[in-house]
Amino acid sequence: MRSARLVIALFAAVALSAPPASAVSAPPDVSGHKQTLRSAAPKGFHIGTAVAGGGHHENQPYPDPFTSDSEYRKVLAAEFNSVSPENQMKWEYIHPERGRYNFGMADAIVRFAKQNRQVVRGHTLMWHSQNPEWLEQGDFTAAELREILREHIMTVVGRYKGKVQQWDVANEIFTDAGALRTTENIWIRELGPGIVADAFRWAHQADPKAKLFFNDYNVESVNAKSDAYYALIKELRAAGVPVHGFSAQAHLSLDYGFPDDLERNLKRFADLRLETAITELDVRMTLPASGVPTAAQLQQQADYYQRTLAACLKVRTCKSFTIWGFTDKYSWVPVFFQGQGAATVMWNDFGRKQAYYALRSTLAKRA
Ligand code: XIL
Repeated sequence: MRSARLVIALFAAVALSAPPASAVSAPPDVSGHKQTLRSAAPKGFHIGTAVAGGGHHENQPYPDPFTSDSEYRKVLAAEFNSVSPENQMKWEYIHPERGRYNFGMADAIVRFAKQNRQVVRGHTLMWHSQNPEWLEQGDFTAAELREILREHIMTVVGRYKGKVQQWDVANEIFTDAGALRTTENIWIRELGPGIVADAFRWAHQADPKAKLFFNDYNVESVNAKSDAYYALIKELRAAGVPVHGFSAQAHLSLDYGFPDDLERNLKRFADLRLETAITELDVRMTLPASGVPTAAQLQQQADYYQRTLAACLKVRTCKSFTIWGFTDKYSWVPVFFQGQGAATVMWNDFGRKQAYYALRSTLAKRA
């Protein structure tokens, strides 16, 4: 009984950590002596990752990845020159009770970034998801809510003044149809759409040098949702609101076609004199029954990663490119998308996939 379980466990471990033999060969690598993503990147270009912790990780059978996994930390420092706290700056994590902040983990990430010469993307200040209960269930007047948001933004952005390069001020405020999330988003629902501009103004007041972004998924293409951002940002800029950037999360899936017009879409925002960025790239896939991606899937995944990076590199203002975790060991995908996985550029054991080499050689070609 015990040995049967062991065999199954061993099989699972192997299946999740190694590619099939046919998929091992990496594409031609032009990175030369540049053996890491950050060393291969053009000057001034930020290649980043989410830093695993909080959120779904808290229900997994492993300790906090960022503080406990030394190999993870080594790769994090070696490969990237930008980091984004995956959950550790979200409301539920950093402001768990009214009047009480929990800065420990965010501070640790910011310190790690400084030690390793990395910039930080702050994520996020205004969202409909991962808000603490005291906020969502609280019975506040409009004036109180407004003050709660102002105080939160001034406190959090102020604490990391000069240490967080870009902030996702507003995350996912539109639906795919391009409508403001007027019911789900507590701020917009209770205070009206004007609160979005106020959030940017407060963040700017707290750190005048930080670049302030709108961030969302399904905005890689020119579509109803990205059109809604385009119109809103134009309007806010005309009114003098300090909006500096527009970013596409890029949670892609092999079950859907690649967003071919990504470059064209980013470019129209760049033409508004906005910074642009890819902030949460991963490329998930429906796994075969074996749990191991096929060689064709891995090839196609590498292609999606490569094309996303190539599009960003072609847009003048796209200087920040972040993947949503670098190892399948800690990816959010299997937890949130049933039957899907293998979405990152490294296996559980940090072995590099084709997607990793595709990113590195694409960076090196533009360096
Ligand atoms: C995800 C995290 O990866 C998970 O750990 C957490 O449980 C849920 O949120 N869009 C975003 C990110 O802006 O914050 C989300 O991150 C993924 C989708």
